[in-house]
Amino acid sequence: MKILVIGSGAREHAIIHTLLKDTDVKSVIAAPGNAGIAEIVPTFPLDIKDPAATLQLAQSNHIDLVVIGPEIPLAHGVADVLRENNFVVFGPNKNAAQIESSKSFAKDVMMSAGIATARWFDCKTITEVENALDAFSAPYVVKDDSLAQGKGVVVTNDKAEALTHAEMCLEHGMVVVEEFLSGKEVSLFLLADGKRTIPLVPAQDFKRVFDNDEGANTGGMGAYSPLTFVGDDFGEFVAREIGDKVVAELAKRGMPFIGLLYAGLIVTSSGVKVIEFNARFGDPETQVVLSRLLSPLGTFLLRTAQGELDSLPPLQWSSESAVTVVIASENYPESPVTGYVIEGLELAKIVEGVEIFHAGTKAEGDDILSAGGRVLSVTALGKDLKSARSRAYEAISHIRLQGSHYRRDIAQKASENQG
Ligand code: AMP
Ligand code: GLY
Repeated sequence: MKILVIGSGAREHAIIHTLLKDTDVKSVIAAPGNAGIAEIVPTFPLDIKDPAATLQLAQSNHIDLVVIGPEIPLAHGVADVLRENNFVVFGPNKNAAQIESSKSFAKDVMMSAGIATARWFDCKTITEVENALDAFSAPYVVKDDSLAQGKGVVVTNDKAEALTHAEMCLEHGMVVVEEFLSGKEVSLFLLADGKRTIPLVPAQDFKRVFDNDEGANTGGMGAYSPLTFVGDDFGEFVAREIGDKVVAELAKRGMPFIGLLYAGLIVTSSGVKVIEFNARFGDPETQVVLSRLLSPLGTFLLRTAQGELDSLPPLQWSSESAVTVVIASENYPESPVTGYVIEGLELAKIVEGVEIFHAGTKAEGDDILSAGGRVLSVTALGKDLKSARSRAYEAISHIRLQGSHYRRDIAQKASENQG
């Protein structure tokens, strides 16, 4: 099988690294990729928002399966055009991808499917926002209705800040104001073949930029798996009670969801509730989830894309723990400063159990330069979270990147709780 992977993050680097372990995968190409991806597979330039260019790339390389990493091509209908031209695609069509690209669409689907989520109001004017904020007490949760790459949500006790964010979002569309939910967050990925879902292992993401969950929301600064606070049947429960219901509701609406349904969940005192859905693998959770996968990824993605989840054996997982820590550029997430040489990668790579997945990097001569907000995802496996953490941080101690920062507390509490 020959696979084209679309995207350029550490998520795509991890996906490709895992695909290459599948003996049924003959070759992988990536577009546009990054410096780390280019070290393991051929890469091609691509505007990921351009369905016609993506189609041409798939056609000229005789691709058997296209795996779409990020949400942007999904929202631009890249999967639609590929499917119309008979390609097998892992990633939903544009209408089904609205589960991520429109918060109010996702809420509507959840309501129809009877899925527990925070109470909410769709708001089109600032007066509606004010009324909605008053209907709930602080902390206030204000969300941009459309795709905002992790920056669309503000959770604050300060009503003025909530209103300012709402005003900014209203300039280009709708705002969702919702009830604050308190509990532990879980990212659960589900393979979805248009008819049903099967779960991967749960992971936890660290969304805030600084230690102790302080500072701005980011795309994700680190992740770990397994989780110490959910049982072994958690994934199956979510697949049955949430995943299958969402997929059935979307099928009923004539929008079959084929690809990865990412359930952003919160375990509250009154049960598991959905915070958000994404229509793709999460970044950086993918780096830890796939590190623990023992089954052949290519085969699973292909069968999912062909609508044949029923034909697959159960997924197999390593009992080891995985931790990933993101190294981000100076001033990420506000205005990342890039273009600096990254040093120490060779030494970091040889730490036992460690894989370094590249995100915003580019090669220049013999150097690897930072080229984005999130630069590297330093990922380690170990016999437990403590060992995985110490390996990841040992690898990081070898890496030098001017002005960069990373969280020092990824999986810290969980490693203390893991018996
Ligand atoms: P989202 O982009 O919807 O995942 O939101 C980003 C982050 O904001 C989530 O991971 C949560 O930490 C937080 N958040 C979003 N919605 C809520 C909510 N209703 N209650 C509490 N926290 C929330
Ligand atoms: N890590 C959060 C996301 O991928 O959306």
